[in-house]
Amino acid sequence: MAFRASLRFAAKSSSIAGRTTMTTTTTTTQHARFLSQAAAMPTTPSPASHAQIQRDASLPNPDPAADSASAALVREHAPFMVATYSRPAPVFIKGEGSYLWDLENRKYLDLTAGIAVNSLGHCDPEFAKLIAQQAQTLVHASNLYYNPWTGALSKLLVEKTLESGGMHDAAAVFVCNSGSEANEAGIKFARKVGKVLDPSGSKTEIVSFRNAFHGRTMGSLSATPNPKYQAPFAPMVPGFRVGRYNDIAALDELVTEKTCGVLVEPIQGEGGVQVASDEFLIALAERCRAVGAVLLYDEIQCGMSRTGQLWAHSHLPASAHPDILTTAKALGNGFPIGATIVNAHVAEKIKVGDHGTTFGGNPVACRLAHYIVSRLADPALQADVVAKGKVFEAGFAALKDKYPELIAETRGKGLILGLQLTEDPTPIVTAARERGMLVITAGTNTLRFVPSLTITDAEIQEGLKILDDAIQTTRV
Ligand SMILES: Cc1ncc(COP(=O)(O)O)c(C=O)c1O
Repeated sequence: MAFRASLRFAAKSSSIAGRTTMTTTTTTTQHARFLSQAAAMPTTPSPASHAQIQRDASLPNPDPAADSASAALVREHAPFMVATYSRPAPVFIKGEGSYLWDLENRKYLDLTAGIAVNSLGHCDPEFAKLIAQQAQTLVHASNLYYNPWTGALSKLLVEKTLESGGMHDAAAVFVCNSGSEANEAGIKFARKVGKVLDPSGSKTEIVSFRNAFHGRTMGSLSATPNPKYQAPFAPMVPGFRVGRYNDIAALDELVTEKTCGVLVEPIQGEGGVQVASDEFLIALAERCRAVGAVLLYDEIQCGMSRTGQLWAHSHLPASAHPDILTTAKALGNGFPIGATIVNAHVAEKIKVGDHGTTFGGNPVACRLAHYIVSRLADPALQADVVAKGKVFEAGFAALKDKYPELIAETRGKGLILGLQLTEDPTPIVTAARERGMLVITAGTNTLRFVPSLTITDAEIQEGLKILDDAIQTTRV
């Protein structure tokens, strides 16, 4: 805390003294370049910027100002980047555990973990060591050949899945590069199963659910029924139907003999941390089995021990286990990788040449994921996730008591949690960031908390305090 306070003080002093000077030693050439750019900027604040300076002085982490090194960097780079994201001002240059640092050397408690990605925290030392080791050994030789790590990861994923109590018949894995690709493979595999079961070609429909998010490639996007994401790219892939999440009564009409696959998140992340009821997933699985449809669980965000069990569905009876299970995000802790786990019913219908990828399953990604799966499948870590989730929930309950008009409900499990607000959370997100904490939104007016699974109780308390301060500020 003392270190953090001193960093904040340093950052604040520098911004007061002209908002252009980096306060601590940075060694990279890039920093040096931005220091010189920044130094070339006017250092006498204009009268208009005095108010800004005073405001900034009252904040631990004011967003970098227009004359900062960060702003200079963004001005230089942004024109060359396709504008698919709207980003806040800080430029992150370093991470360690649950913290990130920006170009002005401001420190942030990161409750986003790169959107449920950095489950072991930023720059886990062993992870960093393994990247270097494998980079010096073998990076890529293509899927045309065997390497030691694609198979080792596949085997470990199957073994740990079986041990977890989830997907009791997990048998084989297709390794790719991202969540969208993992779902894309799942959708293709479901179509192939449908073709094998019904060669007439009429068993091709894929069902997904409202508020789902399955990715941005055309197949996974077609299963993501959000007009904001789909409309600019219409028409979607044909043969996709949409149902209502947790609506058991509608399943018979929704999932029919024409259905080859049903894709569902046991917990919808982007959709606002909406949890599927056990009854719904059990009924859905039963309906899939009745019509011979493949059941696909997308655990890209909610899986990999984020709920305190390896898979969010691990507690369900075997009858509700999926035929296909997709994972990504935390599987690589920040290194791009995705995986599609299948049972024998699916695997035996996929033939050589049916699907492929140049980079998927490369030795670097797979060696890292092998280490990550070993760490995240640890029951002690999982018990910790449950305990930490309770710390968050207790804090949220106190905040709900304090701000009953603002906080409608708390949702989620373990360390995938949502605070349903009654208003747009954006001002709270901004106020939290300017107090040194990153949090993201989801769904409609939901604040989403998906921190590193290694976050400590003290860090959670720090986050709850900042959240309280941020909410308080937006009340006046
Ligand atoms: C549940 C779920 N599925 C799929 C995806 C897509 O993953 P990616 O962005 O790696 O393609 C995401 C990403 O947020 C996700 O949360």
